[in-house]
Amino acid sequence: MRDRAARVLEANWTGTSTVPSRTLYPHQWSWDSAFIAIGLRHVSSLRAQLELETLLGAQWGDGRIPHIVFNPAIPLDAYFPSPDFWRSSTAGRAAGAPLTQQTSGIVQPPVHALAAWLVHRADPALSRERGFLARVYPGLAAWHRYLLHRRDLGGAGLVCVVHPWEQGMDNSPCWDAPLSRVSPAPPRTFRRADLEHGAAEDRPTDLDYGRYVRLAMDYRDRRYADGGGEFAVEDPAFNALLAASEHALARIACELGAAGTARHARAERLTAALVERLWDPEAGLFFCRDLRGAGGLIRERGISGLLPLILPTLPRDVVAALVRTACGPHFGVGDRVRLAPSYDLEGPAFDPHRYWRGPAWFNTNWLLERGLNLHGEHARAAGLRAALLEVAGTSDFAEYVDPYTGAGCGARGFGWTAALTLDLLGPREGTL
Ligand code: SER
Repeated sequence: MRDRAARVLEANWTGTSTVPSRTLYPHQWSWDSAFIAIGLRHVSSLRAQLELETLLGAQWGDGRIPHIVFNPAIPLDAYFPSPDFWRSSTAGRAAGAPLTQQTSGIVQPPVHALAAWLVHRADPALSRERGFLARVYPGLAAWHRYLLHRRDLGGAGLVCVVHPWEQGMDNSPCWDAPLSRVSPAPPRTFRRADLEHGAAEDRPTDLDYGRYVRLAMDYRDRRYADGGGEFAVEDPAFNALLAASEHALARIACELGAAGTARHARAERLTAALVERLWDPEAGLFFCRDLRGAGGLIRERGISGLLPLILPTLPRDVVAALVRTACGPHFGVGDRVRLAPSYDLEGPAFDPHRYWRGPAWFNTNWLLERGLNLHGEHARAAGLRAALLEVAGTSDFAEYVDPYTGAGCGARGFGWTAALTLDLLGPREGTL
């Protein structure tokens, strides 16, 4: 398994970073790179460090890390939306987009500081020799500053996503209500490239795409200034990853000889704000909060609502309820499914094959495994780990799988699936 997984990462390596998939996603993706670095550290610490350094090389002046860094050697029509859609170096100029590199203008979940810390820990000697943490720390600090200062659109201490691609679970039913208010860009004004590589019934619909395009175009036309968009949602996974990364940044600061206390305190405040704003004790789950339209909690059960389990200072009763929900009828972990689905097994919109409307993904299950271990649920974590390893192997490192059968969907030889397999084959260290 180790060799097979390492071969996938080798095949997807470009020399400076790793593509999620040679066919479907032929550029560098932000949260993919963070998960990939977490696995790469078991094969080559140097490549893992370079992966994160390359991504940070395309960071914008305002601190944002773009969700895609485009490879100029790849033809424009290989992926949509391409650089000529985002126009980062012109439309993003006021926000400090790089002049020579082309990127998208939206972001993805902040897994990077967590990844940087884990990469450092895998080989502290090489990390110190190359000054890895000192290289990445200023960029990671600026990234968190951008999110905390420019994206707290609700003013309650949580960060907002302004596009479903930012949260990463593109067509999750959690977005159906906020997206329904967005008028889609007409189908003939853009051409999807994803359908050339993936089955249409496993991908988002054309109507979804029309809305994704409209939101991204409007943001671009506002020159990527924050605050004015039609879509603004506080998401539990995005904010939990920021809090976990803030704990990691505290450790990085200490390693560099600075104080980490203020960062740990900020991570704890984020954890408290998550409980305050997004926790629903009756459902035993965190929900997303819509900041537009009528506002309020979006009562759809997505995997995102379980992921605050990765946080060390979550109240005990919340932890206990999350474990019950993960193993109960809506997610079926250790019972009805092989791997946790991306969306409620009993929800009206559940579809076991369509991208984030039901299929199980390896990154979310890896986070769940860490969260279960962190809170002492070792037997459940071990069961999930065994299932992840088995399904990764039988599905040929699929992008996502049917949660009941483990049958592969989407791309094969998928970067983070291979990377997180490598990580699961290694020692299960304490989370931070
Ligand atoms: N997940 C998106 C896609 O399918 C991009 O971030 O292209």
